[in-house]
Amino acid sequence: MIDLTRYDPVWAAAEPYMRARKNDVHVPLSFDWCVTLLEHYPKADVDICLLAILLHDIGWHSIDHGEIVSQGFRSENYLQSDVRCLHEAEGVRMGTEILQDLGWSATTIDAVCEIIDGHDTRPDPHHLNDRIVRDADKLWRFEVTGMGIASEWFGKNPHEYADRLESAILPKLETDYAKTLAADALVSSRRRLKLHVL
Ligand SMILES: [Fe+2]
Ligand SMILES: [Fe+2]
Repeated sequence: MIDLTRYDPVWAAAEPYMRARKNDVHVPLSFDWCVTLLEHYPKADVDICLLAILLHDIGWHSIDHGEIVSQGFRSENYLQSDVRCLHEAEGVRMGTEILQDLGWSATTIDAVCEIIDGHDTRPDPHHLNDRIVRDADKLWRFEVTGMGIASEWFGKNPHEYADRLESAILPKLETDYAKTLAADALVSSRRRLKLHVL
C-alpha cells in the first residue's frame, strides 16, 4: 500500500499552478491512474513516478489559455508546438523549485525533471518510470470526466473523441496493463455517455 499522504505538501505547493487548463481535474485523476499502474509494476519507482505525474503539467500555468488551445491542441503537429515545449520547460523550472523547497533530494529531483522535460514532445520514453507516467497522463481521458474535458480541448464531440482515443491514443499507450485499463474504461464511458446513439 503506497502512503499517499507524503505527497500532500507537494499538492499544496503546486496548488496555485493547478488552476490552468483544468489541471485541477486532470492531474488528480492521472495521479490515481499512476498509483494503479505502480501497483501493477512494482519495479517502477513510486516517488519518482508520482512526483512526476503530480508536477508534469504545472508549466501550463505560465501560458495564455487561448494559445494553449489554439496551438497546443488544435494546430497541426500540436504535440511539437512551441507551447508544448514551453510547458515542459516551465514545468521543470517550477517543479525543481517546489521540490527543492520541500527538501526532496537532488537525485529524486533530477529523475522527476528528466520525465517532465519531454513528457509530450520526446518521441520515445526512456525507461519504465517514464512509460508509466506517460500512460497515467493519458488514461484519464478514457474516463467520462476526461472525455468530457479533452473532447472540448480538441474541438470534438464525445463520440468523435472516443473514436479518436480508440484509433490513435490507445494503440500508442506504453504498457500492456494501461491498454487493458483504457479499453475497459472506454467501454464503460461509451455506455454511460450513450455513444451508440449520440
Ligand atoms: Fe503535458
Ligand atoms: Fe498531462
